[in-house]
Amino acid sequence: MGVSRRGLLAAGIAALALPGCGGGGSTGAEPDRKVEVFSWWAGPGEKEGLEALVADFARNNPGVAFDNAAVAGGAGTIAKTVLATRLQNDDPPDSYQAHAGRELTEDIKAGYVEDLRDLYEEQGWLDKLPGGLVQAITVNGAIYCVPVNIHRSNLLWYSPKTLATLGLTPPATWADFLTQADAIAKKGLTPLSIGPGWTQKHLLENVLLGTLGAQTYAELWTGGTDWSSPAVLTALRLFTDVLARSDIATPAGDWQPALDKVIGGGAAYNLMGDWADAYLRTKSLVFTEGYGVVASPGTDGIYNFLSDSFTLPRGAPHAGAARKWLVECGSVGGQDAFNPQKGSVPARTDTDRAKYTGYLAAAVAEWADAATRVVGSLTHGVVADTAWNATIDTALTAFVQDRDAAKFAQAVAAGRTVS
Ligand code: GAL
Repeated sequence: MGVSRRGLLAAGIAALALPGCGGGGSTGAEPDRKVEVFSWWAGPGEKEGLEALVADFARNNPGVAFDNAAVAGGAGTIAKTVLATRLQNDDPPDSYQAHAGRELTEDIKAGYVEDLRDLYEEQGWLDKLPGGLVQAITVNGAIYCVPVNIHRSNLLWYSPKTLATLGLTPPATWADFLTQADAIAKKGLTPLSIGPGWTQKHLLENVLLGTLGAQTYAELWTGGTDWSSPAVLTALRLFTDVLARSDIATPAGDWQPALDKVIGGGAAYNLMGDWADAYLRTKSLVFTEGYGVVASPGTDGIYNFLSDSFTLPRGAPHAGAARKWLVECGSVGGQDAFNPQKGSVPARTDTDRAKYTGYLAAAVAEWADAATRVVGSLTHGVVADTAWNATIDTALTAFVQDRDAAKFAQAVAAGRTVS
């Protein structure tokens, strides 16, 4: 069944209907000599992207110092806790990282972020971004963030050398993976490396996607798919089978060490987003020689997307400089400086494709292909708000231990927030 990318974006993630948080504007109490930007891009493969964007920002804004408030930790798990405390204490940075989509729901309701529609109009951004993305970040006519990229979550990374030694090619389905896993384990390798809780959720969403297909997966988040249906329960049980072939007993500390196990030859595969491409390049590895990648099993032709974006918090101390930062994030120059380093494709549709080589050349083409089906990531904020994600995190911790698919499905469905 064909599902168009525009259709999925509209059906799956764009049905945001939140109360707007009304007027008021940051006055900017201090002069705009600096801008404090909060993100989680501190680790290898992420800080290089941020540095490239900051360098372009500095070129365009001499005299505005960049205050890097990055808090390390994959997927922002630590940063998000630090940020929540700052926002609650009325101590916002000048701009903070958030994913496009439902992740900002609670912050919008709490009045923590400003509507940026005027900036969109001033900069002419509305027709420079994919329509589905604009819809996904529009809440009651307001737009609260500026997307800087598009990442793909559903990718399976491997070492061509290891697979050649094993005599394997990457699995096209999870059933293929399970068959391969026995052979891989017999040779003394870990079939799939895994890291902390968020990487397990990242795996879960892509096992669901690869098993249920794009439409049914998208409707898990909109209420159209019954979590307790036989198909979903089967997919959940498959997830536990996959996890049983991983090194969950000795998980990696974060996503980079999980990938290290693959390129070090101790594990055959790792399922991770395309920030992995940036990380592997920091190790001087060359795409198709030192590392390879395919769509995760069952997801060929599907882009499970997420988009990093930046906000203007209400009460930002340097709101003028923050706007300059946002202009940088939304600009062609900024996106073409950032994304080739970050392992992502630009959110804008009018950037310079020649800057994207190796893995990214294929990613840019696939993202732009009208036949590509687009769904949104759970783990990275597109399809569920923070409250629902927190419920799922708690339920998933138990599920990984007790493998009770029916109990997990019930907890997830019961925790659904309609946002
Ligand atoms: C995601 C984020 C990516 C990357 C990844 C790993 O949530 O969108 O840009 O940073 O986490 O930390």
